[in-house]
Amino acid sequence: MRHRHFARIAVIGSVLMLASLVTAVSVSAQSSVPAIFKDADLKLGEELIAQHKCTACHVRKVGGDGSQIYRPLGRINTAGFLRGMVEQCNTALNLGMFPEDVTDVAAALNRDHYKFSQ
Ligand code: HEC
Repeated sequence: MRHRHFARIAVIGSVLMLASLVTAVSVSAQSSVPAIFKDADLKLGEELIAQHKCTACHVRKVGGDGSQIYRPLGRINTAGFLRGMVEQCNTALNLGMFPEDVTDVAAALNRDHYKFSQ
């Protein structure tokens, strides 16, 4: 009987350890936001994406909900490159976004589609 008691303690112990491991992993997932997006205003980014009709035009190009235009495994492979792409669209389409706006938009796209950690 003693053995069984020890086994139960061991099981409880490993469940607790697993729980703290899961917590640690989710905390580190949060801190894996790329440095250039650390202070980004994600809500404003979303609003700017809606305001500038980014998705409407992308839908015309790729159909569906337009999100297929965002290819995390394509040529854009870092947060800096992603921000640069948004800046390029900003300039080419004459959207008139400020540099912080471009960062906010890129950060929102990163959170929802690209998920770069650097
Ligand atoms: C007038 C149409 C149009 C508008 C408006 C537009 N885009 Fe695009 N966008 C495109 C097209 C077309 C491509 C594909 C270019 C290519 O891959 O050759 C593209 C590609 C992109 C890509 C690169 C996707 C990838 O992973 O290769 C990003 C990022 C992007 N757009 C962001 C935006 C954002 C943000 C906005 C709004 C602020 C926006 N675009 C507005 C037409 C548009």
